Order: sequence, then C-alpha cells, then structure tokens
Amino acid sequence: MILADIKNNKDALAILSDIFVYDSYIFTHSLNVTVYTLGLAVELGFTEKQLMDIGMGALLHDVGKMAIPTEVLNKPGRLTVEEFEIIKSHAKAGYDMLRNAPNISLLSAHCAFQHHERIDGTGYPQGLKGNQIHYYAKLIAIADVFDAVTSNRIYRKPMLPHEGLELLYSGVENQFDQSLVEAFRKTIAVYPAGLKVKLSDGRVGIVVKQNKQLSTHPVVRIIEEHSRELANPYQLDLVEQLNVTIVETETTLAASSFV
Ligand SMILES: [Fe+2]
Repeated sequence: MILADIKNNKDALAILSDIFVYDSYIFTHSLNVTVYTLGLAVELGFTEKQLMDIGMGALLHDVGKMAIPTEVLNKPGRLTVEEFEIIKSHAKAGYDMLRNAPNISLLSAHCAFQHHERIDGTGYPQGLKGNQIHYYAKLIAIADVFDAVTSNRIYRKPMLPHEGLELLYSGVENQFDQSLVEAFRKTIAVYPAGLKVKLSDGRVGIVVKQNKQLSTHPVVRIIEEHSRELANPYQLDLVEQLNVTIVETETTLAASSFV
C-alpha cells in the first residue's frame, strides 16, 4: 500500500535515493521509523489517507540531515553547543525541503518540522508544547527515539527493545504522550525471539515466539530449572502464566551467576 504510493511519488523516491547516497544510516533509520510509525498508526486505527501522510512524513522525517556536514552528523564524541545547534537545524531544513516539493503533503512536511518537539516544550526547533504539536509528529517522535536507541552505532551499544521501551516510559510525563507509548508497546516485539531471559520463578529460557496482544509475555523455551540445565527443554507460554514475569535478559544474565 504505502510502498506503491512511494513508487508512484517521484519526489519521495528522488529524495530517498539522495538520503541513501548521503548517509546509509539515515536511510536505514528512516525505513525503520516508517515501519514503527505505521505499526503504531494501524494500532490506532488510522485511515488509508492518514497512513499515507504519516508514512511519508516518517520516511522523510530526517531529510534535513542532508544539510548537515557528515563530520558533525557522525561525530562519535560529545557534540559542542555549536555542533548541537547545527544538528538541530535539520528539522526546519527538512520542512523547507518538503513543503516546496509539489507531491509531498504539508502534513508530511510538518512531521519533519516537529518530530523533535516534546510535550513539555523542551524539544526543538520551536519549543512547542502539548497539543501545539501535531499528532503525527508525536507518533514519529516515539518511533524515532526507539529506533535511535535500539540501533547499533559505532560509538555505543544498542539497547534491547525492552530497554528502549523503558526509556520511552521514563519520558511519558514530560516528553511523550503516555497513551501513545502504551499503544506502541503493543506493536513491537519487546522481547525478540532468540533472547535469553530469566523468569521471576528462577527458570531460564529463550524467547521463541511473540504474543501479539501481550508483547511483554512471549512464549519461552525453558532450558534451565532449579539452577540445572534441562535435558528436555519445554515451551512455556507466559500469557498462560501471568504470575510469572521476565526479570532479567541475557545482557544482565551474562554478568550474573545464573549463566
Ligand atoms: Fe531527527
């Protein structure tokens, strides 16, 4: 659906290929943000037309980064105040590029303009608050932060999905809309397949399948019980055992005495 629309939209295609040539991370990030944003928008019951505008907005939200020198964009260390100001200019730069593109809606352009605004007014470039921020931009902000922190960068390790989600939850009072973060939680694999987890009753297992309606309670293959490795691992659906929760994941497990 949206891919067909993009294919038919020469402006979007041309801009996308420019993004790809300029910086492949922005390109990949833009695709990821689009997938997360559309997942959230579908969860919220958006219409086709709304999905089109927000999908295009998500795909091109960081287009203004092409106006930022790559040495500033990919600087591994701490940015100076001046460099951060340069980075911040990408929101308005993106808006200016998109609002002048005839086949991109003004709504999509506003996604680029407002995706760094935060509901308490601490965002940029305009410092908009609460309902001054367009609803679409609030969705993209969540997808944007989640992908940024869970992606591998040269200068830091990626967070696991549940850690990225915790970060979003830590910002629900002042940065993100709580109901949107709740909806977002339902659309992602909080504990992806293959992740080693420890359960609240001490059992250790590997996530094998998601539960669509309760992403915090996947199906786990139990490999260790009473601190002993099992010769015959078995599956446990955490939805059927709501009193049992995931308390640790392999990153923390690796440092503990359980492995
Ligand atoms: Fe951005």
